[in-house]
Amino acid sequence: MLSERRVAIIGAGVIGASIADALASRGVRVTLFDMRAPGAGASQASAGVLAPFIEAKPGSPLLALGARSLLMWDDFMAGVRDRAPGHEVEYVRTGTLEVALSDEEHAHLTTAAAWLASEGVTHDWLEGPALVARAPMVTSAARGALHLPDHRIVNVGALVRALVQAARLSGAVCVTPTEIVHVEQVRHGVEVRIGDQRHTFDHVVIAAGSWTRRVRVAGVPVFPVRPIRGQLLHVRWPDGARPAHSIWGTRCYTVPWADGSLLVGATVEDVGFDERATVAGVRELMDAVVGLLPSAADASLEAVRVGLRPATADHLPLLGPLSSHPGVILAAGHYRNGILLAPLTADIVSKLVLNNERDAALDLVSPERFYGYT
Ligand code: GLY
Repeated sequence: MLSERRVAIIGAGVIGASIADALASRGVRVTLFDMRAPGAGASQASAGVLAPFIEAKPGSPLLALGARSLLMWDDFMAGVRDRAPGHEVEYVRTGTLEVALSDEEHAHLTTAAAWLASEGVTHDWLEGPALVARAPMVTSAARGALHLPDHRIVNVGALVRALVQAARLSGAVCVTPTEIVHVEQVRHGVEVRIGDQRHTFDHVVIAAGSWTRRVRVAGVPVFPVRPIRGQLLHVRWPDGARPAHSIWGTRCYTVPWADGSLLVGATVEDVGFDERATVAGVRELMDAVVGLLPSAADASLEAVRVGLRPATADHLPLLGPLSSHPGVILAAGHYRNGILLAPLTADIVSKLVLNNERDAALDLVSPERFYGYT
């Protein structure tokens, strides 16, 4: 049965596009806005590694959120492939190898392995000939590596294109480039202003990444999201060699793509809304990747990519409705884990919109946990 609900989504990155697909495929009338093209913001900073067991630190709720979302990925991909036929999206369970290059890093990974064991996460430790056999391109200086077989990679650009296409095929309308900066709960819904015009929706989902802070909701302070720049490189070995796994060091991580290139990520820079690639950023990544995979010195540099991750003070998303504006739902601030958390975020927002159902995870990520959101 078709729902008559109308939902506006501000931001067509991976989060906005996942929510658009989830809602449109369930009969909601979705309008998806973006000030640029879909996927031009934080998605550009993503290497597409789904790695909650590296990204989450002991004690962080990110472990439970990330592990839950990781479990949803196979179905999420099956859904988008079904609804966007002809869109190839690379999604591979490569696993990750987190490499220790010093005594200190070895001790750190040993502690991490013990913690992951206590959390029931499948992993194993490789060193000596076993590490060389598994990852011969890793530097011979490596002291060992933590292997996490359930980690995966996904091609984010292709994914966003497929999600937007899937949403469109289910009836969503994509309006770009259009920036929405005024949102207000009114008597019969939520009003957005576009120039002189006002449009009313049942819900407005704000998923504008770092630009969420530019969207003003009447009477609500600026949303506490700030941009953290990530620069990434694409490199390619002349003979097509590259590691089979996603290899991580303390200064960079790498992602092997099916086209034979290797993505090297990523800088973490607090430089405001500056989306330039810089000599210092590229040099930092080049030094780091050669330290991890020495033969990268002979690889060609094919491209540099830049994106702005949306960060909050505790590095968890702002997710859920505002109590003062119940039709306004935040889905922003996913920082380093927007791709990983996209299926869970889309599911949580869909349940709110379709059934007014509050997922228990909302207690961890409510936008109102920060001062001023009451
Ligand atoms: N997800 C890894 C990063 O943001 O660099």
